[in-house]
Amino acid sequence: MEYKIGLIGCGTVGQGLLEILVKKAEELRERNGFEARIVAVSDKLKGSVLAPDGLDISKVLEILGAGKTLDAYPGGSGPSAAVDPLDMIEKSNADIIAELTYTDIKTGEPATGYIKKALRTGKHVVTSNKGPAALHYQELKKMAQANRLQFRIEGTVMSGTPVFHLAETGLAGNEIREVQGILNGTTNFILTKMEVDGMDYADALKLAQKLGYAEADPTADVEGFDAAGKIVILSNVLLGGSIAPADVRREGIGSITKAMVLDAKAQGHRYKLIARAKKDGGKVTASVAPQRLPLSDPLAGVMGAQNALTFDTDLLGKVTIQGPGAGKIETGFSILSDLLAIHRTLAK
Ligand code: HSE
Repeated sequence: MEYKIGLIGCGTVGQGLLEILVKKAEELRERNGFEARIVAVSDKLKGSVLAPDGLDISKVLEILGAGKTLDAYPGGSGPSAAVDPLDMIEKSNADIIAELTYTDIKTGEPATGYIKKALRTGKHVVTSNKGPAALHYQELKKMAQANRLQFRIEGTVMSGTPVFHLAETGLAGNEIREVQGILNGTTNFILTKMEVDGMDYADALKLAQKLGYAEADPTADVEGFDAAGKIVILSNVLLGGSIAPADVRREGIGSITKAMVLDAKAQGHRYKLIARAKKDGGKVTASVAPQRLPLSDPLAGVMGAQNALTFDTDLLGKVTIQGPGAGKIETGFSILSDLLAIHRTLAK
């Protein structure tokens, strides 16, 4: 089956998705019966192009890769003349909108408005944007269901590492009682560098920024706001909670010194920034805080920018999944995995 897809936001994640679609077009068609046609791209910095018959994806990537804007594409416009994303969503013939604009964890905008517009105009939505998922998941999910559409968010937590797909399919039939994990790559990278390479906190943070792990404002990482947004999403999607980021008891890694890290190491322990959500009766509570774990804990072995999540289930006990939590191709893949999930439902 062929799907017409519109991209709202075409930065790192959008370009990661486009690269995968070019590289794997044949494999996706033959193995999965899935074909993608990109019919709209809208980006605040790169401009816009509406192409109901489909864009030449390689050409779009070549233009953006050369640092040019979409006015270099036939029929495209640069940022100053770009079509407004809301108009673009309305006018586009897309079946699915991939909402890939920047995360604003305080307001969820402008992404939430784009998602609502897409759902109101009959388009499925896939997103890696943490803002709408952390603040408005239940409302958006209900809106999608009322319109017989899908709203999928695999990339919001642990990039393409299939946390939500695992819960939805492999763990179906279990009750998930608690989840705890390492959901922020930047802080895990910093703690690893402090322990393994004896680096200072500030130098390790600078290196994380240089390698592109950190948020634009790294206080979101080191003070635990990023992990708090992610544990809210897990609470509300997997544990049936209805909590907000402000409900999370949150502590960052600022109080962890190199001396503490090395002292823990000498005693067979390791500091990790642990995000936890727990269901107690009908109530879901969540926290983010540094913890000193014994090395026997599977989360203690997760090093560098990797993420991991342990599900505590009624039938299987504890199940841990580890994988990347960020990255161009890794998060681009999260979008592909949601597109394929929509395809599996529609192709039945
Ligand atoms: N800044 C985030 C992290 C990126 O370090 O995990 C992915 O959300």
